[in-house]
Amino acid sequence: MIEIADITKVYHMGDMEVRALDGVSLNVDAGEWVAIMGPSGSGKSTLMNIVGCLDQPTTGSYRLDDLEVARMNDKELAAVRNHKIGFVFQTFNLLSRTSALANVELPLVYAGARDRTTRALDALARVGLSDRVHHRPNELSGGQQQRVAIARALVNQPAIILADEPTGNLDSRSGAEIMDIFCDLHSQGMTIVMVTHDPDIAAYCQRVVHILDGRIKEDTRSTEQRCGNGSNGDNGVIKGNE
Ligand SMILES: Nc1ncnc2c1ncn2[C@@H]1O[C@H](COP(=O)(O)OP(=O)(O)OP(=O)(O)O)[C@@H](O)[C@H]1O
Ligand SMILES: [Mg+2]
Repeated sequence: MIEIADITKVYHMGDMEVRALDGVSLNVDAGEWVAIMGPSGSGKSTLMNIVGCLDQPTTGSYRLDDLEVARMNDKELAAVRNHKIGFVFQTFNLLSRTSALANVELPLVYAGARDRTTRALDALARVGLSDRVHHRPNELSGGQQQRVAIARALVNQPAIILADEPTGNLDSRSGAEIMDIFCDLHSQGMTIVMVTHDPDIAAYCQRVVHILDGRIKEDTRSTEQRCGNGSNGDNGVIKGNE
């Protein structure tokens, strides 16, 4: 699904050169759930921006779902982003004056899709928010706002979900509810890449990639899974429609 080969990302600040990524190679298979960890400034967000087609590497190759995206222009990148990627951010990034439903419809508006309301309602049902569709973000709890953001990420039926610290602004209980939703998505075969500082969150993922100074230092897989301990799995909240 993701094939990154020896990419660099170099920023020039006056005379200074910042090598935010310095020879990163990473393959992620369809259906994998990967955590990206590393200290502040190590290059995690830079890598996520490239994986998410928000930015281009300076050198190297990036194939996403068999498309070479590293040399695409902005318009082509935007199209790939809209069709293949769902983003979830630490700060939710919802439009504040707009209902949950309208927030989730927004990617469909950009895509010029039909059946927008039906599809947005379906996505909100998948995250268990059918009873909050007309609420605005300030009328929702933090965990509920993040669920709206996940519904927005899902509504275009992306190939990958990218999440940068999705539980960073949540208390541990709301965070666990969000992780239950990711567990359900993973069990349905979604490919997920997630940045986190929290080892408890990383423990949900079967693979953890550690980054330091723009390089991959460690790439470990575990067979242990925190999902499926009764609080999630087949709880009926998520129903796949693919
Ligand atoms: N637009 C930019 N221009 C110049 N330097 C940048 C830019 N974006 C990031 N950097 C630099 O690249 C390096 C990696 O930044 P990045 O945001 O990827 O770190 P991070 O691992 O996400 O950190 P954090 O955990 O604090 O979010 C840092 O040294 C940062 O200062
Ligand atoms: Mg970051």
